[in-house]
Amino acid sequence: MLPIIAIAFSWTGDTWAEPQGLPAGHNGGVKERLTTPAGGRRPHILMILFDDYGWADAGWHRNYTAPGGEFLPATPEVATPHLDALVREGIELDRHYVYKYCSPSRSALQSGRNPYHVNPLNAEPTISNPDDPVSGFQGIPRNMTGLATKLAAAGYRTAGFGKWDAGMATPDHTPHGRGYQTALNYFHHCNDYWSFTDGGCPVPYSGGDKVGPPAECAAGPLGDPWWGGYEDSLFEKHALALVEGHDAAVPLFLFFAPHIVHTPLQVPQEYADRFAFIAPTDKPRHQRQVYHAMASLPPIDSHDLSAFLLGKTLASPRAELPIGTEPRLSNLSSAPLCASYNRATPYYDEPSVVGDEPKPLPDSPPPGSRCTTVSALIVDEGKGGLWKLLTGTVEQAMYTGPAYPNSTTDEVSSHFVSHCGDGCLFELRADPLETSDLASRHPQRLARLRAKLEAYEATAFNPDRGGNTAAACEHAQGVYRGFWGPDEKAGVCRKAKG
Ligand SMILES: *[C@@H]1O[C@H](CO)[C@@H](O)[C@H](O)[C@H]1NC(C)=O
Ligand SMILES: *[C@@H]1O[C@H](CO)[C@@H](O)[C@H](O)[C@H]1NC(C)=O
Ligand SMILES: *[C@@H]1O[C@H](CO)[C@@H](O)[C@H](O)[C@H]1NC(C)=O
Ligand SMILES: *[C@@H]1O[C@H](CO)[C@@H](O)[C@H](O)[C@H]1NC(C)=O
Repeated sequence: MLPIIAIAFSWTGDTWAEPQGLPAGHNGGVKERLTTPAGGRRPHILMILFDDYGWADAGWHRNYTAPGGEFLPATPEVATPHLDALVREGIELDRHYVYKYCSPSRSALQSGRNPYHVNPLNAEPTISNPDDPVSGFQGIPRNMTGLATKLAAAGYRTAGFGKWDAGMATPDHTPHGRGYQTALNYFHHCNDYWSFTDGGCPVPYSGGDKVGPPAECAAGPLGDPWWGGYEDSLFEKHALALVEGHDAAVPLFLFFAPHIVHTPLQVPQEYADRFAFIAPTDKPRHQRQVYHAMASLPPIDSHDLSAFLLGKTLASPRAELPIGTEPRLSNLSSAPLCASYNRATPYYDEPSVVGDEPKPLPDSPPPGSRCTTVSALIVDEGKGGLWKLLTGTVEQAMYTGPAYPNSTTDEVSSHFVSHCGDGCLFELRADPLETSDLASRHPQRLARLRAKLEAYEATAFNPDRGGNTAAACEHAQGVYRGFWGPDEKAGVCRKAKG
């Protein structure tokens, strides 16, 4: 789960304006008609996005009976005091769903589109397809507009700090290109909390060494109030400084996206020590201890930030939500570009323990199947039920239990799959954990939902994003001195070509 916390919004008016404070040619050079509120009411907006919290990892979901009747007992392991306070003082919308992976969720949030209309792939930011200079990259295609671009045009000061993961290949893809006048972000899915670097150069690049941490980004001295360079404290420091220095008369849009609790599991020792009581039952890797220490932290001061910024107007949830599911991460350039194989042969994974080898997905669609981008749908039929249809190959098909990292499969594997074929059907109010497939008991409903899903499929946008390129890696190892960033070849040459 990936909860989005604290979006306050009020919107009116129709004055056309150009975005302010953005580079020329932002947004892929696409001209947009942008509105400014005529009524003059422009509340400050704080949008906080957290990654990878589970339902049971939220303090306000403890000592609590979940909608399906499962009781989650209070436990000292799950302590999220700052977030609990936000929920207590705000409104919890617990029937909102996001895409289950980072980049599609983030692309959707920043572009205002459903994932299957902007980016259904959780691909590496280093991919590109030379034949498509507009959409042939990870993340939001260059010809789509960002939320912050709209708000900048409406006179907002825009700023974003933290995890981005909505595209990196060209300056258009970066937060600046998407409307953030002030930004400090990292581009990969995850990176090291101390050095801010992420792994090595991906295959098929074979040009050299790992991207290594620059010396100046090594962890600082113990006792540093900002924890010697811990990544989230850096983001928070910048966000707070921005708010403190901000003229309250100017509407502010602040996007705050901590790295916590996305992997790698890393936290200053002082905070891990507070959860030392978990250690005896959490050997040898102490994942649970570190995870809960991380989960308890953020945002150190966002409770105060929200008091400063929050308004009250919230839109009601959508009644119907088509969702894509995840394609294979590997072989992106050679596999058919689809999120799911429909009509695949059903099989069921055995529950496994950490360390088991995941079962690979087939490289090509089973006979008789076809590729789809939209492969899931949630339909609210009111008293008739809240239905979820899943089709084809469903990755990360597992239930995470109340004690992290207990799950029905290895919690870090992206390869555990269920094959739903023409459809698994769940009623979410009675069965929020999706344990009981009712497809065979509701053939007409199944057919009706499938027809809707196929109608959505006809509108899906899933262009060929290409494969990993060496240029991004060369830039990381060269001009960016160990960090990831836009690859000028993608940015300049392809722009000229396109
Ligand atoms: C759990 O909630 C009940 C009321 O809903 C309360 O009486 C009890 O003290 C709570 N227990 C803990 C451990 O928070
Ligand atoms: C963006 O460009 C792609 C081609 O890469 C095109 O298929 C798509 O329709 C365009 N979308 C918009 C919103 O302009
Ligand atoms: C990619 O596909 C090829 C050909 O099907 C296969 O041999 C290879 O193992 C795949 N690579 C990965 C990383 O899955
Ligand atoms: C994991 O959690 C589930 C759901 O609460 C439970 O049924 C299962 O026994 C747990 N497994 C382990 C290994 O603790």
